[in-house]
Amino acid sequence: MKVGIYPGSFDPVTFGHLDIIKRATKIFDKIIIIVANNPMKNTLFSIDERIELVKEVLKDYPMIEVETFSGLTVDCAKKFSADAIIRGLRMVTDFEFEFQMNLANKVMNVDVETVFLMTKVENSYISSSLVKEIHQLEGDISKFVPECVKKALDEKSLR
Ligand code: COA
Repeated sequence: MKVGIYPGSFDPVTFGHLDIIKRATKIFDKIIIIVANNPMKNTLFSIDERIELVKEVLKDYPMIEVETFSGLTVDCAKKFSADAIIRGLRMVTDFEFEFQMNLANKVMNVDVETVFLMTKVENSYISSSLVKEIHQLEGDISKFVPECVKKALDEKSLR
């Protein structure tokens, strides 16, 4: 049984994340989405809201679980007995950051592997911040996020 963890802030989850997750289901038997609880990152959605949105969009995938973690990703991988960390690669700029993170993770735990999946070209420029900015400026975000995420963003802007 191959287990992969997919860590990220998911503030909020986008079609870009979902593309990586769905493709990872072909490689792993079980995937645990780790919604990072990082107090250093100023998120729009609370940890509970981010978890709920990820659960909602992946409710039809019984092999996917959603958890949170506030420590090092390598410790998270150990806690969930993961065979690998899953990461998506969009632009070349992602590579530099991912390479650095991967090297640091290897020093901290030599047994933890990272599997990189290349994004589809149509998702290569999406980020959660970009979605939030377009939404705030009243642009159409339906090509970037599922309907429930759009609804959650609409509700945030009404508050
Ligand atoms: N499609 C669309 N968007 C994507 C994407 C994809 N495939 N992959 C990443 N993104 C976006 C995210 O939405 C995010 O956008 P934002 O910056 O506008 O919010 C951005 O790209 C960065 O995403 P990511 O690289 O996943 O960063 P993150 O902040 O969401 O999560 C952790 C980073 C949690 C994996 C990392 O900080 C971590 O491992 N933290 C734990 C602490 C630790 O171990 N530190 C030592 C690391 S060596």
